[in-house]
Amino acid sequence: TAGLQTKRIGQHVLAHDEVISTQPLAHEAAARGAEEGTLVLAEQQTGGKGRLGRQWHSPKGTGIWMSLIVRPAIPLPKTPQMTLLTAVSVARTIREETGLPVKIKWPNDIFIGDKKVCGILTELNAESDRVNYLVIGIGLNANSVEGDFPQELAEIATSLRIEAGEPVKRVRFIQQFCRHFEEEYDYFLQHGFERIKAEWEAHSYTIGRWVNVQTISQKLEGRAVALDDEGVLLVEDQYGAIHKVYSADVNYRAN
Ligand code: BTN
Repeated sequence: TAGLQTKRIGQHVLAHDEVISTQPLAHEAAARGAEEGTLVLAEQQTGGKGRLGRQWHSPKGTGIWMSLIVRPAIPLPKTPQMTLLTAVSVARTIREETGLPVKIKWPNDIFIGDKKVCGILTELNAESDRVNYLVIGIGLNANSVEGDFPQELAEIATSLRIEAGEPVKRVRFIQQFCRHFEEEYDYFLQHGFERIKAEWEAHSYTIGRWVNVQTISQKLEGRAVALDDEGVLLVEDQYGAIHKVYSADVNYRAN
């Protein structure tokens, strides 16, 4: 941990070789009282979890598969902002470590060009309106090469190594991520969401694009125009009406 420059984030690491998923391990650790900033890492996941019940391809040795435990004293409706904070921190780390032009696709996918390089899955543990803890799962395709992706992912996924043409040092990457995350997190707890929102919008893949939104309660097409102060996506339909999109599977179409 010589290169770790943080006070809490990443100061405790539970490193595993093969696990089903780091998410339930982080929940167990948090329930046992693990300190804020504890990271659960794995070399390989046999049952990696993605958003919306999907699987997350997590082969051995090439990725950064980790779950971060945080205990923010914030009201429940603000917890999605923590996911945006995480996306901003990952994106900044990628930019600094590789120089690659990364974009954030709402709410929390990290893209290079039109391919996904990182996904984030935030799980909340709360008791009547109080946040107990969050487990923020981060899956980053770091050093995979072209042939590592199964066929169904080859078209839509990429890795830092494929894009940058050289492998990244995973330990260093994680340390730098912890530094950026802690800096943004401390600022967020003191001053609120404004700065994250600005950085998110500045590096957004989504803003300005035409999107299809499909949730249980909403079906809508329009242009993504901004994030609001809560972190909710604002979509303008063809009649000029603005809709709030909370969490949905957003599909994209060429502008
Ligand atoms: C998504 O884009 O659907 C989110 C993917 C999240 C994957 C990470 S890998 C570490 C952690 N453990 C899991 O099983 N999932 C998250």
